[in-house]
Amino acid sequence: MEELKTKIRQEGIVIGNDVLKVDSFLNHQIDPKLMKAIGREFAKRFEGCLITKILTVESSGIAPAMSVAHELSVPVVYAKKTSSRITDADVYESNVFSFTKNKKYKIRVSRKFITKDDCVLIIDDFLANGQAILGLYEIITKSGASFAGAGIVIEKGFQGGGDMLRKMGIRVESLAIVENMSETKILFK
Ligand code: G4P
Repeated sequence: MEELKTKIRQEGIVIGNDVLKVDSFLNHQIDPKLMKAIGREFAKRFEGCLITKILTVESSGIAPAMSVAHELSVPVVYAKKTSSRITDADVYESNVFSFTKNKKYKIRVSRKFITKDDCVLIIDDFLANGQAILGLYEIITKSGASFAGAGIVIEKGFQGGGDMLRKMGIRVESLAIVENMSETKILFK
């Protein structure tokens, strides 16, 4: 998606050789016009898939997920990373290992929001090693729902998560795939 790649080139800041900071439009401040275009693009790519729910994980996945959901007129469900006294007890859970943070965390979704009658599209802001998508996929599998695929705003192609998921037969649609990057240059696939 050219508009997104231009924005990444203009505002993205590369830290080290594997972290792309895009907090001016995606991870902290959010650009609503770009989010709307992102939603439209995902809706077009997954047209005809009869999607009934969008699934993401808090927090940065929520904005693009909401935008696609609006285009498709379906609800967004986001997996929670923490539980509290008011969290439903009846949940699907899965463990996710974050290579970036070098720690394991649990994600959970209430059983009442994903059922076997749903067709679910996963949306997330970043795809690095693919562990968050695998965790969401496990939740969909546990629910018995059908799975349309995963829509990713920015895939870091050099970290291999996308290749791993595609090899598993998962449809992954990324709007920008970064092939490699340095402080002075970002190269897209
Ligand atoms: P993985 O799911 O693909 O295996 O990725 P990993 O666990 O390594 O990523 C952990 C967190 O870091 C995720 O956000 C992910 O979106 C984010 N992330 C990974 N690489 C980058 C990057 O290059 N730039 C930015 N900006 N984020 C990156 P999170 O912890 O769930 O945070 P949030 O959704 O609450 O923002």
